[in-house]
Amino acid sequence: MRHLLTTQTLSRDEAVAILDTAEDMAEVSDREIKKLPTLRGRTVVNLFFEDSTRTRVSFEVAAKRLSADVINFAAKGSSVSKGESLKDTAQTLHAMGADGVVMRHAASGAPHTLASAGWIDAGIVNAGDGTHEHPTQALLDAFTIRRRLHGDASRGLGLDGVRVTIVGDILHSRVARSNLWLLRTLGAEVRFIAPATLLPVGIEGWPVEFGVDLDAAIAEGPEVLMMLRIQAERMHAAHFPSEREYAREWGLTDARLARLPANTMVMHPGPMNRGLEISSAAADSAKSTVLEQVANGVAVRMSVLYHLLATGEAS
Ligand code: CP
Repeated sequence: MRHLLTTQTLSRDEAVAILDTAEDMAEVSDREIKKLPTLRGRTVVNLFFEDSTRTRVSFEVAAKRLSADVINFAAKGSSVSKGESLKDTAQTLHAMGADGVVMRHAASGAPHTLASAGWIDAGIVNAGDGTHEHPTQALLDAFTIRRRLHGDASRGLGLDGVRVTIVGDILHSRVARSNLWLLRTLGAEVRFIAPATLLPVGIEGWPVEFGVDLDAAIAEGPEVLMMLRIQAERMHAAHFPSEREYAREWGLTDARLARLPANTMVMHPGPMNRGLEISSAAADSAKSTVLEQVANGVAVRMSVLYHLLATGEAS
């Protein structure tokens, strides 16, 4: 693999290999000295044209734990705000000797452009592009599910037969898309639940069951309930009557939390709108994997950087 742009083309073997290496990286993160010399002399650029907390910081930590030199580049405060193009930005990074570029951009497809245009000779990681994909979020979600289900016996396993219900703003969610492709590749059964206005046009042609009734989905006792953030910043029209109505129909309220089976895990990629798509009690409950997802993100991103930059295997 040279780049990681999507989960759609990852094979099961490639995905399991990334998750297994992340297990090794998690062990490194548990040590007193949390460092490997693997990427010594390599330069990783975090190129963020959109805001981020978890993804940007965890890629920085991941690259530093692998001994890479890290350059953090945010569009705000850079020459991009003076109108510099993606091509000129990329060529500047190339001149600085970037070996890997972790890119977040509001435009769907921007990391693909960077990977294919020939402006820079570096491994490109998609850290979230518009409403398109967020592959490392899906990988860390899969890692988190696998670890909760199988613990120390996770290595080599997929997620065969695991029922995952993804709820909320599917329309704008790159997390839902990357998770759908990856979870299916790993053998999970995925269902989307959302108001009809927040389901993408043409979803009938996607390889996923979908519906609008969260209570019915909860009654079926999924092993995983993944709540998505309402992405108000991407909404240019009213998709539901009010926040109160949304929380009542599609939020993980305290009452719905109480109806979940004991072993259901509650996931959220963050940042959370507490009281809207998820109640505080649900977010902070023992079922919640929210902070595990953040911690696992470092190990998974170490693994991705390793596969791209140390072995040259990624594509
Ligand atoms: N989950 C996620 O991508 O969070 P950030 O926007 O904080 O990176």
